[in-house]
Amino acid sequence: MSSQALLESFDDLEPETDDFLSEVLSGLQSTPKTLPCKFFYDEKGSKLFDSICDLPEYYPTRTETALLERIGDEVAECIGPHAQIVEYGCGSVKKIRPVVDALDRPVSYVAVDISKEHLLAAAGMLASDYPDLEVHAVCADFVQPFEVTPPAAYPEARRVGFFPGSTLGNFAPEAARTLLASAAKLLGSGGGMLIGIDLKKDVAILEAAYDDAAGVTAAFNMNLLDRINNELGADFDLDQFEHHVRYNAELGRVEMHLRSLRDQQVTVDGNVVEFREGETIHTENSHKFDIEQFQAMARDAGFEPQRVWTDEDKLFSVHFLTVP
Ligand code: AVJ
Repeated sequence: MSSQALLESFDDLEPETDDFLSEVLSGLQSTPKTLPCKFFYDEKGSKLFDSICDLPEYYPTRTETALLERIGDEVAECIGPHAQIVEYGCGSVKKIRPVVDALDRPVSYVAVDISKEHLLAAAGMLASDYPDLEVHAVCADFVQPFEVTPPAAYPEARRVGFFPGSTLGNFAPEAARTLLASAAKLLGSGGGMLIGIDLKKDVAILEAAYDDAAGVTAAFNMNLLDRINNELGADFDLDQFEHHVRYNAELGRVEMHLRSLRDQQVTVDGNVVEFREGETIHTENSHKFDIEQFQAMARDAGFEPQRVWTDEDKLFSVHFLTVP
């Protein structure tokens, strides 16, 4: 039996190709040009992202993983027994393992991710490694509404969100607040949220994390153009764009761009898009926070901050929030 067959349920709300096309066109027809970062994660992009997580320059993953391992018992105390965990953007389903190991009889785990094949394989593997855990998979853009089924074995289970990796930082402040507010609603009164948030730090460390020497992040960024070529029949010449990173201190965020190396035209589904030399497509923001700044946003979204942990070097933070 394949491990995917061990999933309790699978809910397929994957965005349609039509939505991909219309979001790509509206981004490329805006000034300045943008593309949504959620589209990085096709099969190849998901693998490249996993490689990013192992890069020496990319401190967030290893710092957060070590932190989650260190604080497991305290997290388990905050969450309590018989919880249902809902992970926002579960990727390869690695980070939840130390948490599940520390928890007191967790009942259910709901994996939500936009990358379907990657999600099914990763959630299936978790289900096979944890036979007592009810594992549900939901393929969705988690900004859109999705539903969570209460665990059959324990319908009154406390719902706890798990939102690691500082993925919340990909959203502009207003969108981040809206997303947190909808999470608070889904988790319900008495629910909890365990969330990883990257901290402000030296600009050199931040820029290196998104512009690594081996060029993996550059390949991850460029893969978006390759995907648009393959899935939407566009004709981006990948040799005529380059990866560009900068820390925007005013807005407290690392920005990734794709920069046109010359004046050029690209056709996307019959629509001509003009580029000037040096013009960029803004593909991602990664907001960095102070602890108090994040807690204020969480309060604003309807959560009550309960605890916060950081690593020794104050690179990264993990927060436990509750829904009053
Ligand atoms: C895990 C989505 C938050 O913004 O740091 C890594 C994605 N982009 N390198 C981040 C990413 C470039 C990552 N997130």
